[in-house]
Amino acid sequence: MNLSHRIILWPTRVELSAPAGTPLCDLLFEQGVEFPCGGQGRCRGCRIRVLNGKAEVNRAQQERLSPEEIASGWRLACQCVVEGDLEIELRQWDAAILVDDTVFAFRPRQGLGVAVDLGTTTLVAQLLELATGRVLAVSTALNAQARYGADVMSRLHFAVLEGGQHQLETLIRQQIGALIEQLLFSAGKHGAGIADIVVVGNTVMHHFFCGIDAEPLSRYPFEPTEGGLQIFRSSALGWKHAGDPLVRFLPCLGGFVGSDVLAGILATKLTEHEDLVGLIDLGTNGEIVIGNKHGLLCASTAAGPAFEGAKISMGMRASTGAISQVTVSPLLGPLLTKEGSKGWCSRDRVHCHVIGDGAPRGLCGSGLVDAVAAGLELGVVAPSGRFSKGENSWMLAPPVALTQNDIRELQLAKAAIAAGIKLLMQRKGEKELARLYLAGAFGNYIDRASAQRIGLIDFPPERVEAAGNTALLGAKLALFSLDSEDGSYAGVRRRVEHVALNADPSFQDVFVGELAFPQARPTN
Ligand code: FES
Repeated sequence: MNLSHRIILWPTRVELSAPAGTPLCDLLFEQGVEFPCGGQGRCRGCRIRVLNGKAEVNRAQQERLSPEEIASGWRLACQCVVEGDLEIELRQWDAAILVDDTVFAFRPRQGLGVAVDLGTTTLVAQLLELATGRVLAVSTALNAQARYGADVMSRLHFAVLEGGQHQLETLIRQQIGALIEQLLFSAGKHGAGIADIVVVGNTVMHHFFCGIDAEPLSRYPFEPTEGGLQIFRSSALGWKHAGDPLVRFLPCLGGFVGSDVLAGILATKLTEHEDLVGLIDLGTNGEIVIGNKHGLLCASTAAGPAFEGAKISMGMRASTGAISQVTVSPLLGPLLTKEGSKGWCSRDRVHCHVIGDGAPRGLCGSGLVDAVAAGLELGVVAPSGRFSKGENSWMLAPPVALTQNDIRELQLAKAAIAAGIKLLMQRKGEKELARLYLAGAFGNYIDRASAQRIGLIDFPPERVEAAGNTALLGAKLALFSLDSEDGSYAGVRRRVEHVALNADPSFQDVFVGELAFPQARPTN
């Protein structure tokens, strides 16, 4: 039996539980911790200090941490797994968010601030001391609206029913109000005044929270009724926080591109680059931003739910039992069997990593991308997307198999994203990106080489960077520059132009052209 262990996070005192073998990054990502190099063990950005318990030091940590640091308990969270009960101090939460002297420089303010990332599936809120930038508490929850549909479209269908939207509005306002109370309580600041609250989210969440008619978002041309900045007194939302602080829901960028993407632009500083750079959030709706300091284009494209493991025969979220990585041993040289390594199971040359080190139960989004890339590499899957020998499925790790239909779903998702990137690049008159940031949980876990192998992201892996929870980071940054112009969300918003891909006559042709997989692994 796989027992759960207790993990206590300092300074917030959040308590989590997880079985042995769970990667710490799985746990901490959900708590709003960022992994700047995507968990590759290269940047030291995810440093933690072990106060109690054990966390083994692997080679990547020996290379990145000094012997003194290791001796005093410092570790790289992305390289550690749960081995037993653990108490850790989160370095990120102890430091000012902003330490450079760019336009985003940290400008201390008095009082407390709250940043909220209102996602379709999850909510993350952080309480900050605005004078130091310290995170005093963090709260996460599943979005209470989820019982009325897992994705934005099913939520919109509920909203258009009699009284539906009002119900969703009430639910989310109450939940976020309670989450903020919980933040104050766990930081020992119950009853203390809050200076400002910033909320970011996609366009549908924006309309639901702000009480704006969301019906136009459910039908062509899918345009928001009113996507601008919305400001409320917290008492108007039914919240009773001391000082009656202002609550700002940051403005959407257009169509289905919400303020979570605006926050992502702030977090990745896209408007400061001279070279062309990009930001993608891969989800049911893929959001894409391409540009530089001279201007940005943004768009959304309906990718379908494949990246979230939905509509996949054995699809599931990235949780215990999900195959999250699939690798192939090279044909020549030693067979790199991972059999016996924690969390890995192997069949011939194919190795699958199972989250939580238990029996495989299904396939999550990153596992799906890897599995198809592995199938292409082994010649099991043809570039057309068909199984080469006409099979209906390919067994990865019993009972989990990849089916023909799963590959089709992935083709639709990847073609939508690839076509969106291509069209925005065409508008910019460029073929290359200097850097591409991947936002969100999926972007954190997807293997960049596999993403390139299936033609989802046609750029060399070293130019692609996982950027973590950019929505939350951007919301935090916004708290420090609410009234300024340069570098603030308002200044950035003005530099972004929304492109309605569904109105572009060439979209369908480009989309169809992107359905097939590349013939061979790119040489870069
Ligand atoms: S070293 Fe862990 S995220 Fe970069």
